Amino acid sequence: MPTRILTRHSPEIELPPDAATADDHRNPPRRKRNEEEPAPDVGHLVQPEPRHELDKLILHAEVKTDILAGLRALEIRADLDRIWNLSSIQPQEGKCILNFYGPPGTGKTRTALGIALRLGKPLYQVDYSAVISKYLGDTAKHIKAAFAAAREHDAVLFFDEADSLLSKRVATGESCSTSINQNRNCLMQELDRFDGVVIVTTNLFENYDPALLRRIQRHIKFRNPDASMRRELFALHLPNPDRVQADYADLAALSRGLSGGDILNICVNAIHAGSADADTAKWQVTQGMLEREIEKARAARKEHEGKSAKARRRIGFCVK
Ligand SMILES: Nc1ncnc2c1ncn2[C@@H]1O[C@H](COP(=O)(O)OP(=O)(O)OP(=O)(O)O)[C@@H](O)[C@H]1O
Ligand SMILES: [Mg+2]
Repeated sequence: MPTRILTRHSPEIELPPDAATADDHRNPPRRKRNEEEPAPDVGHLVQPEPRHELDKLILHAEVKTDILAGLRALEIRADLDRIWNLSSIQPQEGKCILNFYGPPGTGKTRTALGIALRLGKPLYQVDYSAVISKYLGDTAKHIKAAFAAAREHDAVLFFDEADSLLSKRVATGESCSTSINQNRNCLMQELDRFDGVVIVTTNLFENYDPALLRRIQRHIKFRNPDASMRRELFALHLPNPDRVQADYADLAALSRGLSGGDILNICVNAIHAGSADADTAKWQVTQGMLEREIEKARAARKEHEGKSAKARRRIGFCVK
């Protein structure tokens, strides 16, 4: 029998017997959104390496003290319970929520890796592009998935550059206030339930949601390095001192206002400049090479600051 199918234009057309049936032409039935879909990957596991050791970081003394105090609180939890009955006010033994805030390139991400290494755990780094969804309810579901993944892998949960997710306006992809509140509430509930280490980092601390703020146990402010730290940062980022001819104290003075991240770039660029000869025996980094790179970094920063100020003035003008 020929197959008969109905179309919008003609009530009936005949197809040869071996033709695909009308069923084949239909889209497969759609699964209802949010139903039985497997939890998506909303981040990735990072295994910290020996080079991430906390001792290798050059940090301000108060930052170091705060970090070590946070780690120690986890290590001596049993004694804290015995002496202070801490569980009566803070029942979750492994809970520790840290906020690292401060300018770019000051070692916030590196410190998170160092903490994970010290704890012997991987880092579950949340990927915001996978978390934030334009579909109602999906962002909250993804937030839950991030916490579930960290639990499953016994990982430190890491919200790096968390401004977009943790700010007063949680959902950048969704416009309606219902979903924004839903996401914010979900994040707060998950933070309350999570009995592990969570690290959030930001350059824009002032945007944080106040409800989130009170859930964070330690706020640690990262600052740009002072002169003696910059000196150490140059030494750290030029790992073969035999091939370096430079005065680190001079470099530290010249690089005032620059971050550890800037110094990393300066050193790598100077190493590249000093490795141009075909004969590797002649490769070396000189004071002049480093000074040129410092100058470039300072010029780029100055230009960026000028442009940012201009943009801020423009925005100010529009708002008024
Ligand atoms: N305090 C520091 N001690 C040692 N190295 C540092 C320090 N700060 C920065 N660096 C160097 O700069 C690189 C970048 O640092 P990192 O990514 O941790 O900065 P960040 O504070 O997370 O910056 P951003 O806010 O832009 O994410 C590090 O890999 C390291 O080489
Ligand atoms: Mg970072």
